[in-house]
Order: sequence, then C-alpha cells, then structure tokens
Amino acid sequence: MSDAVTIGINGFGRVGRAVLVASLSNPAVRVTAINDPFISADYAAYLVKHDSATGGFKGSVEAKKDAIVVDGCTIAVTQKSDPSSVPWGDSHVTYVIECSGVHTTHDRAGAHLAGGASRVVIAAPSSDAVTLVQGVNADSMKPSTQVISAGSCTGMAVCPILRFLGERFGVDECTFTAVHAVTPTQKVVDGAQGKEWRSARSAMTNIIPHSSGATKTIQKVLPQLANKVLGTSLRVPVQNGCALDITVRLTNGISKEALDLAIQEASQPGSPFYGLLAFSSEELVSSDVSASAASIYDSKASVSLSSTTHKLLWWYSHELGYAQRLLLLIAQTNASW
Ligand SMILES: NC(=O)c1ccc[n+]([C@@H]2O[C@H](COP(=O)([O-])OP(=O)(O)OC[C@H]3O[C@@H](n4cnc5c(N)ncnc54)[C@H](O)[C@@H]3O)[C@@H](O)[C@H]2O)c1
Repeated sequence: MSDAVTIGINGFGRVGRAVLVASLSNPAVRVTAINDPFISADYAAYLVKHDSATGGFKGSVEAKKDAIVVDGCTIAVTQKSDPSSVPWGDSHVTYVIECSGVHTTHDRAGAHLAGGASRVVIAAPSSDAVTLVQGVNADSMKPSTQVISAGSCTGMAVCPILRFLGERFGVDECTFTAVHAVTPTQKVVDGAQGKEWRSARSAMTNIIPHSSGATKTIQKVLPQLANKVLGTSLRVPVQNGCALDITVRLTNGISKEALDLAIQEASQPGSPFYGLLAFSSEELVSSDVSASAASIYDSKASVSLSSTTHKLLWWYSHELGYAQRLLLLIAQTNASW
C-alpha cells in the first residue's frame, strides 16, 4: 500500500464526484470508498463518465459488483443512509469527506467514526464543527480534533484573499458579491420552497439574489474582520466558474499598479499564499476557471477609485477547485493530526 492518505466520500453528488476526479491527479490521497444511498456502483460509474458541466472523466471507468474501478483503482461503493453504518474500515478509510449536505453538524458528521474512519471533513459550513481554511487558520488544527468543516466554496475562496489584504494593507471595510454558478438546490423551472421565495425561481433564466454562507465562515476563521466584511451572492445561469466582486477600503493606501504587483508576488512559490491566490492579466471568463484550485485575481477587470478604495475581481471554481483545496487541506492537516 502507498503512503497516500485514504479517503472515503459520503454523498456522490457534484462535490463528491469532484473530490474523486481531483484525487486522481493528487498522489497524496487515494479514494477507496464511496457511500451514497441513492447511487449504485453502475450509476456511480455512469456519473463519473458523463458530466454535462465538465464533459466527464476521460480515463477508464468500469462498474463491478459493489465497486467501481477508475483508472485501475478499485473503489468500494455502498448505499447506506445512516453514517454510523457505513463500513469505512473495510476500505481502510482514514478521512471521510462528508459531501451529502445532510450531515453538517459535528455530531452527525462524527457518526462516520463508528464505521472505522479516523477523521471527518465536512465539505460545507457547519454550525458547530471547527472550521479550517487553508492559508488562513489550517495550521491551528489540534491533533485531538476529529471532525472539521472546510466551510463553503465561496468562504474557501474569499478568506485567503481577505487575510492577504488585511495583513498587507489593513481592511477598514469590505463588501463582496459572489457571482455563483447554479447548484443542485436550485429549480430548473419556477417552484415553491422555503422562506426565500425567489430561490425556487428558475435557475435557467434568472439572476437570483441569494444569501452567502461565506460571511459566517469569515467570522469563524478571520474573527478580526468579523464586523468589517459582509458578503452576498447572485446565482447566475452558468454551470462552471464563479466570480467574487470585492469592494474594499484599505487602511493603508496603495496604487492599483502596486496592488497588482503585491498580488502577483503573493501568488509566487515561496509565498504562504502560493497555490491559493493566482494572478491573471488575461481576458478570462467564467468557463476558463473551472479547474483552478486557486482564487484568480483578474487585474484587467479590477479598478481603483482611490488609493484606499478598490473594486477587485477574483475568479474561483466552486466544484473542482473546491475539491482540490479540500484534498490539499487534508494533506496539510494530516501532517499535524
Ligand atoms: N455544489 C457546490 O457548488 C458546492 C460547493 C461547496 C460545497 N458544497 C456543499 O456540498 C454539499 C453537497 O452539495 P452538492 O452540490 O454536491 O449536492 P448534490 O445534491 O449534488 O449531492 C448530494 C449527494 O448526497 C447524496 N445523499 C443524500 N442523502 C445522503 C445520505 N444520508 N448519505 C449519503 N449521501 C446522501 C445524494 O444522493 C447526492 O448524490 C452541500 O453541503 C453543499 O453546501 C456544494
């Protein structure tokens, strides 16, 4: 057996499948088991092969009895609803990535430990689990902690940017809008659900204002900015790629050119933000960024009103990029766990 960290995926939806695909190009991790009560082995193989957003996985994918074989690696497939009954130990799973959207509290996600897993990473915001974001507070991991939340995709994208801006220039005030691709909770045609009535309007034809869970993630991992940053979101009818439109008032003024240079430097090897922040002067659009683990600063689309007030455009990938970052977080925290 290799030294790769063994992973189990609970919930084989958009994020669960993105985790599998991301793992195939990351030798530090290996997915050995998948659990989803609604997805059998042959259905799982079908969903890996065919994907309307990404074009599907181009390697070999085969269904067996209670397993799929992806590029020669056998991955057990189970269909349990109760997390405590998933036999993770049979597949030597160390980390479960909880991607069902159902078990997001510490105790519900912690039920995976009963089946033999050692740690659980919730791929979503959690009301009570410790939240860790790479490049922000991931090095504060306590070895005794067995269940963590990695926050939302927007939180994971925006927090390193805010930490960078805060430490380098000071942040007096900041608002942001996450211009977010569609997600499975939305409706194809107008429907009715919950209290946020417009959330159930057709995702195909509308720009839909939505709350952003990222503000809560910021409050948890960057408490020094808790009362200075507020974010919201617009859901837009694209499948790939999201943008962060950040308006920030800095404490210490800096010209647009010098800010560009500082971000470019932060994206280079040797910087603590390397791999988390990237710089681009290309004319990007959302579909260009779907495979990026880093949040990408778009220098051409960003403008400055004055040396202290800047409107910055950043791109991020809500599925594959988020999944890549989850795996990097595991690789990083595994060293201290
Ligand atoms: N889609 C995104 O952009 C995105 C990004 C980051 C985080 N997230 C978070 O990831 C979670 C999943 O989101 P998604 O977009 O992948 O949703 P999804 O609907 O595509 O996937 C959820 C999967 O969980 C399965 N499931 C349901 N009940 C289950 C149970 N009891 N045990 C195991 N599996 C179960 C479903 O069958 C489905 O396949 C949510 O918490 C969401 O907030 C989503």
